[in-house]
Amino acid sequence: MKPASPLRIAGIEITPPIALAPMAGVTNALFRKLFKPFGFGLTVSEFVSAQSLVRMNKRTLEMIDVYPDERPTSVQLHGNDPAVMAQAAAFVEECGADIVDINFGCPAPKIVKGGDGAAILRDPDLAVAICAAVRKAVKRVPVTVKMRLGWERDNYTYLEIAKRAEAVGIDAFTLHGRYGKQFYKPSADWSYIARLKEAVKVPVIGNGDIASAADALRCYEESGVDAVMIGRAALGNPWLIRGVAAAMAGEPQPGPPSVEERIDFARAHLDAMVERYGEKSGVFQMRKHVAWYIRGIAGASALREQINHTPDAESVRELLATARTRPAVIVGPEEAMEVAV
Ligand SMILES: Cc1cc2nc3c(=O)[nH]c(=O)nc-3n(C[C@H](O)[C@H](O)[C@H](O)COP(=O)(O)O)c2cc1C
Repeated sequence: MKPASPLRIAGIEITPPIALAPMAGVTNALFRKLFKPFGFGLTVSEFVSAQSLVRMNKRTLEMIDVYPDERPTSVQLHGNDPAVMAQAAAFVEECGADIVDINFGCPAPKIVKGGDGAAILRDPDLAVAICAAVRKAVKRVPVTVKMRLGWERDNYTYLEIAKRAEAVGIDAFTLHGRYGKQFYKPSADWSYIARLKEAVKVPVIGNGDIASAADALRCYEESGVDAVMIGRAALGNPWLIRGVAAAMAGEPQPGPPSVEERIDFARAHLDAMVERYGEKSGVFQMRKHVAWYIRGIAGASALREQINHTPDAESVRELLATARTRPAVIVGPEEAMEVAV
């Protein structure tokens, strides 16, 4: 294909047009900084509760940190009170977010029970009121929305919400081609993303089940989107993004990483975690990442078990080193998507 054009959201140029999906418990500033160089033009924070933010909860405040070398970065908010969302959005802009993103997509029971995330798709008037309030409160940076098709199958509200949200000034949309009650199965349907692209003038980012460079090209070409967003398939496999970026630039595919390269990157990730969060928390938080990095390497499940019972960083480093010379198989798309959500 001919090289993909950069994604432009209001005044911000995003190149290559590939976004790292927001993932709660994963896409903190450290993770975004480590993964950005593989070819993400845009990274998005994990979602942040607008309510906790306006109460100045210390842990929530840490979640809106943005490092200089990961920009442009979007900070995502969830909440269902337009005034609180507006206050939180203004604060996030003040703290340096390049884009403020609104979450209308999370289907997790604790979020939906509180009336946030994908629950808002049941009430287009509320969704538009939140968009209008946030847009008014944010003075300088773009405001975007990430959503699903609707809450349930017979009530897809995304087109109505998007058209009305565009009219109140929303600058771009990301659409995950599933409805809320579907959680993560069956597959995302990108044909709905194509319909959104036809319905609005602002950029649309396509999301859901992109697990390879070929998938990314297919989503990009079939749905006419301005960019693709990739989540689960990048976990433990940032090299995938090198391939996606090459495909989007019309360049040949780079070879897969060697096992040594994967293990060395996992160790560098561990070191960065320990430096940022301290040994106990860094080692603990790293366990899920290690499981993703070693997927497909011979003896991965026994190694994962050992590492999950190892409290100190040096021993984890040594255990990881034992895997450097092991053979590996290529992980298929199904396995790449196996993430507890
Ligand atoms: C562990 C995990 C956490 C997630 N957290 C968020 C979140 O905070 N905000 C959000 O908009 N979507 C969240 N998502 C959804 C992803 O951003 C994305 O829409 C979804 O995983 C589909 O893309 P994928 O098939 O490329 O993974 C999360 C997904 C996972 C797997």
